[in-house]
Amino acid sequence: MENKTHLVDEITGHRRMRRNRKADWTRRLVQENRLTVDDLIWPIFIIPGTGILEPIPAMPGVNRMTVDKAVEAAKEAADLGIPALATFPNIEMELRDETGSNSLEKNNLINLASAAIKKAVPNIGVITDVALDPFTSHGHDGILRGNEIVNDETVEQVARAAVYQADAGADIIAPSEMMDGRIGAIRQALDAAGHQSVGIMSYATKFSSGFYGPYREAISTGGLLKGDKKTYYIDPANGTEAVRDAALDVEEGADMLMVKPGLPYLDICWRLKEAFGLPTFAYQVSGEYAMIKAAAANGWIDGDKVMMETLLAFKRAGCDGILTYFAVEVARQLAKK
Ligand code: PBG
Repeated sequence: MENKTHLVDEITGHRRMRRNRKADWTRRLVQENRLTVDDLIWPIFIIPGTGILEPIPAMPGVNRMTVDKAVEAAKEAADLGIPALATFPNIEMELRDETGSNSLEKNNLINLASAAIKKAVPNIGVITDVALDPFTSHGHDGILRGNEIVNDETVEQVARAAVYQADAGADIIAPSEMMDGRIGAIRQALDAAGHQSVGIMSYATKFSSGFYGPYREAISTGGLLKGDKKTYYIDPANGTEAVRDAALDVEEGADMLMVKPGLPYLDICWRLKEAFGLPTFAYQVSGEYAMIKAAAANGWIDGDKVMMETLLAFKRAGCDGILTYFAVEVARQLAKK
């Protein structure tokens, strides 16, 4: 009989990849990427009132919470070592209008949340979005005039809103509405108001995606949205265009870049990191979270394993961190190790 070992040695030239995989200790020794609590940004949903935690059906394990509860959540996150929160408001329908004017209220829900969190937990970072969708009656990220989401007027408004957000204590402004020129306008407005140290994390490459469904339920914009967001978000087919869009944000002064959604766009994470070298983040969005939770609930996948694997994939793709609804769950698991 043919000596099989000999044959494989001939084929591999004695190079055997499995030597480094043979034991837990070798695997740990050669591991290239690691997920730590420092990689996590926790997105949370804020509702008016006090003392309420409200489950979001399409996002099992995620609650909308009142500001007081968000402060408790921020304490918990800080104790676990999570560096930052990203906050999103679900405001009363009566406050939503055509132009999203509530975004310019100094004491709107998102700003009250920032102020309360920063007062109680000064050492956790607060990242706020300036897109108008939580504030508009039509669910779009910008001002709707006729059939058009108007760019320049929206940019003016989000830049003003960014200043109020910084006044309230936001540490990083994260504009997600994909209007042209927004990063430069926000930078100018922040600087003019004395907020030189407030950073900008650009949702540089935000794709027109089907993965945002559960988020729209979470902030009650799903039923409102007329049409789609294709005139301002990027076509999922386009990678080079995404890099160009990010390049403009870098020129205009973005401190950090974000790719959204996350897992279907790992190639973009890699390309942005390679091209610009800025701190680069992925947003593992609501639909990604919901898919993992749903499959796990059905017993079709091991939810914990897949959660960790997806987050590690972002690290391998060059990301410096991940916005994820799993943040607290992951932080707890990492703490146990
Ligand atoms: C809109 C916004 C979206 C998300 C956060 N801010 C997308 C949208 O509704 O179009 C999605 C986040 C998620 O799905 O987790 N500015």
